Amino acid sequence: MFDIEKIRQDFPFLRQTIHGKPVVFLDTAASAQKPQVVIDAVTESYTNNYANVHRGVYTLSDQATEKYEGARKTVQKFIHATYFEEVIFTKGTTEAINLVAFSLLDTLFQPGDEILLTEMEHHANIVPWQLIAKRKQLTIKYIPVTDEGELMLDKLPSLVTKKTKMLALTHCSNVLGTINPVKAIIQTVKELCPDIAVLVDGAQSVVHQRIDVVELDCDFFVFSAHKLYGTTGTGVLYAKKKWHEMMMPYQGGGDMIKEVSLQETIFADAPYKFEAGTPDIIGVIGLAKAIEYISAIDILSLQNHEQQLLDKATQMLKTIPGLKILGESKHKASVITFIIEGFHANDLGMLLDLSGVCVRTGHHCAQPLMTRFGVKSTVRASFGIYNTLSDADKLVSALNKAIKMLA
Ligand code: ALA
Repeated sequence: MFDIEKIRQDFPFLRQTIHGKPVVFLDTAASAQKPQVVIDAVTESYTNNYANVHRGVYTLSDQATEKYEGARKTVQKFIHATYFEEVIFTKGTTEAINLVAFSLLDTLFQPGDEILLTEMEHHANIVPWQLIAKRKQLTIKYIPVTDEGELMLDKLPSLVTKKTKMLALTHCSNVLGTINPVKAIIQTVKELCPDIAVLVDGAQSVVHQRIDVVELDCDFFVFSAHKLYGTTGTGVLYAKKKWHEMMMPYQGGGDMIKEVSLQETIFADAPYKFEAGTPDIIGVIGLAKAIEYISAIDILSLQNHEQQLLDKATQMLKTIPGLKILGESKHKASVITFIIEGFHANDLGMLLDLSGVCVRTGHHCAQPLMTRFGVKSTVRASFGIYNTLSDADKLVSALNKAIKMLA
């Protein structure tokens, strides 16, 4: 049973008003609100169990280390990684992708090699690859997107060549909501090019479905804690063990070494090789608590709830004259991006705020996708675990009110 009222009680942000109106938070795809248990875990850790990790022999440091390393095992179990060493903590999805790109720059890529991305990527899964492509004279190719917002997978045989070293793609588009069939895609590209590495950007998908990195057969899987009801500044890179040797350290510093002399350094093994400096200890502990919280919720009931929200909001939005939804894939997360002819997205967003409705407006860090659809700025409503069907009503009535004011 998905008890929405009980879940809403877990989220203290819902007790506030915005411009005198109850808050209707429809920007979870940008960053999710936090349940009390995560806030408490953070406060408790700072209050009673705080010290640096991996460094002391005293009780507090031991306790912090135990919690931090315990969190790694929680993540391992959550994404079904085979080894705990495959879980590397980063400061977010963006850093995780940069880590993969730069750690493999000199060991995987040769000039002339190719990287395959898709037209629906977030900038975080485009710019790092462009940076290394420039450094190493690599070519980037893109899987195009259909008018419905799906990947043109029939193009794969012509896009994957012997020189394709990396496919990096999103599991779920932050704009279109499209859930890509990554398992089938990985199978196809590995048949076409057995040595290819595949990175899956799970920033948006991990919130809506359970992940099994072994079943997906991906080489890398990345996500952020803050979209998963955890705190900002923490992310995860799953890196399959077979890549660890080939991945050079991304940053140097304390905690990532076995031995340092004035001449050279012997690095620690993964995952520590990739975690230079004091990590985001408390963020990682908060992430484990967030995972514990959402794992206790039946995933099928949650998906059913989110599907109802998506269906209802989509149906109602379509009654607004001039409204066009970007992304109408059959496999879609509860994310709806739209434009309304004759109205600027920012104006709509600001007027929605006056009704207590929080949405994101703009290009959503996906300018190439905006170009593909011939738009510059859009409104995006994204639903999370705490949204109700009445939030969809409020979105649509606030939009109608905004349109009247602007017309
Ligand atoms: N990637 C986040 C979004 O889609 C910030 O809004």
